[in-house]
Amino acid sequence: MTTPPNATPYDRVAYPTTVFPQTHPDRLFALARLAGLDPVLPQEARILEIGGGTCVNLLAMAAMWPGCDAHGFDLSANAIARGQEIAEASSLANVTLAVEDICEAHLRYPAGSFDYVIAHGVYAWVPDHVRAATMALTAHVLSDRGVGFISYNAMPGGHVRKIMREMLLDAIGHIDDPEERIAAVRDFLEDYARPRERDDLLAKTLRQQAENMLLRPDAVLFHDELGPFFNPQRLRDVVAEGQANGLIFLTDAGRNRQLDGFLPEDAAQPDDPDEAVLDAASRDDYASLRYFRQTLFVKQPPDRSIDLDRIANLWLSSKMRRQDDGTFKHGDDVIEIKDEALALALEQAAALYPQRVALAQIASDPAHLSVILKLCTEWYVSLHPGPAPFPAALSDRPCSGVLVRGMLEIGETTLCTLDHGVLKIEQPELRALLMAADGTRSVAEIATLGTGIPPEDTLAALTACCAKALMQA
Ligand SMILES: C[S@@+](CC[C@H](N)C(=O)[O-])C[C@H]1O[C@@H](n2cnc3c(N)ncnc32)[C@H](O)[C@@H]1O
Repeated sequence: MTTPPNATPYDRVAYPTTVFPQTHPDRLFALARLAGLDPVLPQEARILEIGGGTCVNLLAMAAMWPGCDAHGFDLSANAIARGQEIAEASSLANVTLAVEDICEAHLRYPAGSFDYVIAHGVYAWVPDHVRAATMALTAHVLSDRGVGFISYNAMPGGHVRKIMREMLLDAIGHIDDPEERIAAVRDFLEDYARPRERDDLLAKTLRQQAENMLLRPDAVLFHDELGPFFNPQRLRDVVAEGQANGLIFLTDAGRNRQLDGFLPEDAAQPDDPDEAVLDAASRDDYASLRYFRQTLFVKQPPDRSIDLDRIANLWLSSKMRRQDDGTFKHGDDVIEIKDEALALALEQAAALYPQRVALAQIASDPAHLSVILKLCTEWYVSLHPGPAPFPAALSDRPCSGVLVRGMLEIGETTLCTLDHGVLKIEQPELRALLMAADGTRSVAEIATLGTGIPPEDTLAALTACCAKALMQA
């Protein structure tokens, strides 16, 4: 990539933007519904991604829902050029990307013109006036039924990251060349992470932080703590800024925090529910040394009392695997579900993944819904407004997703799936197979094309792709 005039740090070193499940409008829809609001169905929504880099997160949504109207912008001309290349290779007709400045974007996008507005990884990494403009823009473009997502490095954990930033900038801040800078950061962190004999608790925390940073890709190391701006935010300040612009804190979109904006199920109604949830969430931030937040905003007042009926007609997808001892596993977590009828239903739902099942079919009483909501808060299951927008079985003329083929065509190896995940596919024969499955050929015809997959294995390989949400209807 060449460096354009007015190059930003993100033009010099491309940010490895990917898809972010926590920004997925299905998730935002479910949380808004739980608050008694009337969000727009994602498949027909107008979606804006602010500072989206290549906006691949948005492209994945556009590929998933051909009926949505997806817009994204970023200040980095290189990032947007790459996003446009992917969108064009994928023939995504419902995407418009632009090189735009957050401070000017209100001139491009009319008031109330989006139902979902996403600003991931922007708010704490820009100067104060751009941060203020990000909130003002979100409020300006968000429709009355809309949900806005703003993530940021949070306090008080941000203090720890700021200590690392200060030390790093002091040690290597004079190095301008990106490669040399990244190498110097790694050297510094490797040395810093080494335990010392008299480490107190803070030193141990910082050494752990250095370890964590070493796990990041080079480009993330280059930008996150070491970019020109790094201003972790207090939840209260973010909420107050939203309020000053006419936005109301809904809840957090992150794992464990999705019920931050709701009153505990058995709690008495406080005089001021908005203040009660904000106070509890802030205290939780202090207690957990919170360092990242993903705050949702709305324009209509949410009802903060949990009414499970509001989610009863949603759909569920689950990756939890049942084990021989009856418990479930999700990543390294072991989950026990005491109600055997519900456990069985969840086992059956997981067997269908990435397809979804209607909650009405599996959760026959409020106690079940309550368990499912907790599982959702932990990200063990996901809730959706309806069935999956991709097929459960291969069609007569199998067709891989447009974005899958577009990304393959321009040489990307990490492909976006239709369930808003990513999958690394480097094997040439699998890439050839997915390209050949373009909806014009039967399985038998694909088998004769010499993709490198043995003809007799073609059906099984395509079926496996279907089970990975790589195929469209
Ligand atoms: C940390 S990156 C995050 C990118 C992407 N949203 C993600 O989470 O992977 C911050 C992004 O904000 C963009 N940005 C910074 N200032 C901006 C501005 N004034 N207008 C538009 N985009 C801006 C940068 O170019 C960069 O792509």
